Amino acid sequence: MKVIDSTAGLQQHRSLISSRVGFVPTMGNLHLGHISLLDRALKENDDVYFSIFVNPTQFGPGEDFSKYPRTLQDDLKLIEKKASEYPGKGVIVFAPKSPEEIYPSTGIKTVTVPDLKHILEGEFRPTHFDGVTTVVYRLFDLVRPLRSYFGLKDYQQYVIIKQMVQQEKLAVEIIGMPIIREADGLAMSSRNQYLTPDQRRASLILYQSLSTVLKLLNHDLGNLPKARALMKELENDPNWNYLELRDSETLSEDVSRSKQVTILGVYQFGSTRLLDNMQMEIK
Ligand code: PAF
Repeated sequence: MKVIDSTAGLQQHRSLISSRVGFVPTMGNLHLGHISLLDRALKENDDVYFSIFVNPTQFGPGEDFSKYPRTLQDDLKLIEKKASEYPGKGVIVFAPKSPEEIYPSTGIKTVTVPDLKHILEGEFRPTHFDGVTTVVYRLFDLVRPLRSYFGLKDYQQYVIIKQMVQQEKLAVEIIGMPIIREADGLAMSSRNQYLTPDQRRASLILYQSLSTVLKLLNHDLGNLPKARALMKELENDPNWNYLELRDSETLSEDVSRSKQVTILGVYQFGSTRLLDNMQMEIK
């Protein structure tokens, strides 16, 4: 495993590599979800770049940028352990030493995916997705991967990145990886550690509500009125930021012709917003 902390160092390293390159962008504070992305990337590519960068531009005012957990040394140990299962494959960690490595004063293209950035998460975090698409575009430009791996926990982010790749005509395949859950169903997330013990116990509401709605839908749009009625009832609890059923590909509210739907929910525990989602095929 090699660790690089400058853009110049990354570019120099990348210029020497011509093999199949996979890329896993992260903000660090790694858990098993991130490691599952690395595992798949190592299976499918010769060399894997893994970035760790807490991207300031995707945090809004008053959000958790300054308190976002930065645990580089622990992260490196986890990456090294996974990498050791794949001798012969190259693992290059890119952990920029300062934001200026990513955002020099000139020459950075701001990338935006206009149609999807204001809905769902975008209603609560209006500048978030511009920050995400801009940094991912910048990282793709530096790493030039054949494939890049994203967790489906941030489902809207995954759809937006896929749309960005089409819009900007980038030659990278976007691979979405299943959510990794705790034993009781809570989706793994770096933000789970913000929960108090009481909030952690209460957090099951997210997994259970999503599961119950999908069980009622049971792969059949004929059950949609019942499922929507249940969602409306659940949303009487003001701690839901949203609970929505959308087309999995377009995130459209109109699911009448959908082959697959996604239920997306965000529940607020104090100042911590937890996201979850589940997919269901329609027969
Ligand atoms: O999902 C994340 O961790 C971040 O949004 C990403 C894709 C690394 C961009 O900063």
